[in-house]
Amino acid sequence: MSEIAKIELGGQVFEFPVIEGTEKEKAIDISKLRDMTGYITLDTGYKNTGATKSGITFLDGELGILHYRGYSIEQLADKASFLEVAYLLIYGELPTQAELDAFISSITKHTLIHEDMKQFFEAYPAKAHPMGVLASMVCSLSTFYPESLDPNRSKEAKDLTIHRLLAKLPTLAAWSYKNAMRHPFMYPRNEFSYCENFLHMMFAMPTEDYKVDPVVVSALNKLLILHADHEQNCSTSTVRIVGSSQSNLYSSISAGISALWGPLHGGANQEVIEMLEQIHQDGGDVDKWVAKAKDKEDPFRLMGFGHRVYKNFDPRATIIKKACDDILEKLNINDPMLAIAKRLEQVALEDEYFKSRNLYPNVDFYSGIIYKALGIPTEMFTVMFSIGRLPGWIAQWKEMTENKEPIGRPRQIYVGATPRDYVDISKR
Ligand code: SDX
Repeated sequence: MSEIAKIELGGQVFEFPVIEGTEKEKAIDISKLRDMTGYITLDTGYKNTGATKSGITFLDGELGILHYRGYSIEQLADKASFLEVAYLLIYGELPTQAELDAFISSITKHTLIHEDMKQFFEAYPAKAHPMGVLASMVCSLSTFYPESLDPNRSKEAKDLTIHRLLAKLPTLAAWSYKNAMRHPFMYPRNEFSYCENFLHMMFAMPTEDYKVDPVVVSALNKLLILHADHEQNCSTSTVRIVGSSQSNLYSSISAGISALWGPLHGGANQEVIEMLEQIHQDGGDVDKWVAKAKDKEDPFRLMGFGHRVYKNFDPRATIIKKACDDILEKLNINDPMLAIAKRLEQVALEDEYFKSRNLYPNVDFYSGIIYKALGIPTEMFTVMFSIGRLPGWIAQWKEMTENKEPIGRPRQIYVGATPRDYVDISKR
C-alpha cells in the first residue's frame, strides 16, 4: 500500500500521494495541491522542493555519495575518460568501444568555430571576464546553426547540436583566454585528445612547438569528470527552466554559464584562490580569517566551504584534495596556498560554528590550487567548471525535452500594495 500524506486545512483533510525514487528518496506529490485546496507552498531557494524526477545523477548529502547513472564518482574519476563520462551522462549508458570511437570522431570533426566569430572576440576589451565572453559566444552559436533552434527537430539534428557544443566549448574557452592575452588564436588539432586539444589551444604559440604534459592531461581529465553533473544545482536548474520554454540548447546552456558565474556557485573556485592569496599576503593568520567568516557583522565568507546539499564531506573535494598532493608533487610545485588551504580546513572543521552548520570543503575549495598548478589563470577557473559541467547540463536539458516537461513557471505569494487609485502627479 503506497504511503499517503495528509494535510488538514480549514477543518478538511486532503490526501496527497508519496512517491519514492530508486534510491528510496521520498517526496509528497503536490501537483494537485492548488486545485484541491486553493493553497500553494512557499520554499524560497527551493531548499525542500523537487523540480523534477531525473535518472541522471544521484547524490546523498548526508552520506557524501555521488553517482552518475549509477556509477560512483570515485570509480569514474579513477577509471574513465571525460568523453566516456559525457557519453554516459547524455545517453544513459557507458559506451562500447565502437560507440565511444564514433562519439569522439564526431566531436573531433566539430571543434572549429565559424571564422566570423573571431570578430566577436576581437570586439571584447582585454579585461573582459572570460565567463562573460563564453556565455555570449555560446548563445551566438545558435545564430550560426539555425537548425538548432528547433530542439525537437530529429534525433540526428539534436545529436549534431549536442556534439557541436561539446566540441566547440573548449575552443571558445581557449580563444577567450588568447583574446584576453592578445595572443594569436591556436586552432584545434584533430590528432589531439579532448583535454590535450584544450591545453594546446590555451598554451601553445605559433612560434614554437608545445608539448602537452601527460600529467596535466590526466589531472584535467579527472577534474572535468568531477564537475560533470550535480543534479538540480543552480545552473542546471537554470538550463532546465530556460529549455522548458523550448528555447534552443545553445541559449539554455548560455543561461547556465551565467548562473554558474556567481561567487556562491561555480564562481567560488576563483574566489577561493583570491581568498587564499589574500590570507597569504595578510601574513597567513588563518585563525583571524576563520573568525571573520564567523562574524555576522563581517561580509567575509570562507569561500569553498559549505554546500546546500552536502551536510557532510563533498566526495569530490576528498578526491580533489588527494589529487592536489599528487599533482603538485609530480609537477614539483610547492604552492604555499595549499598549506594555507589545509590549515584553514583543519581550523574550520574543529570549530563549533562550522561543525554546527555542517560546513565542509566543497568541490571548489581545492580545485583552484590544481588549476593554478596546471597553469590555468584564475579568471579561467569558472570557465573550466563550465567545460566540466557541460555534459551534465546537456544531459539534463535532453532529459527535460524528451520527457516533454511543461514550461517552468513557479507561483508566488504577493506581499505588495493592495488596490489603490492613480494620483495625478501634481497631487503626489
Ligand atoms: C557549488 O548545489 C550544487 O550542487 C552546487 C555545486 C555543483 O556542483 O553544482 O556543488 C557547486 O556551487 C559549490 C558551492 C560553492 N560556493 C561557495 O563555496 C560559497 C561559500 N558557501 C556559501 O555561500 C554557502 O555555503 C552555499 C551558497 C554553498 C550554500 O548556502 P545555503 O545552503 O543557502 O546555506 P546558507 O547560506 O543559508 O548558510 C547556512 C548557515 C548560515 O549561517 P546562519 O544564518 O545559520 O547563522 O551557514 C553559514 C551561513 O552564514 N555559512 C557560512 C558559509 N556557508 C554558509 N559561513 C561562513 N562561510 C561559509 N562559506
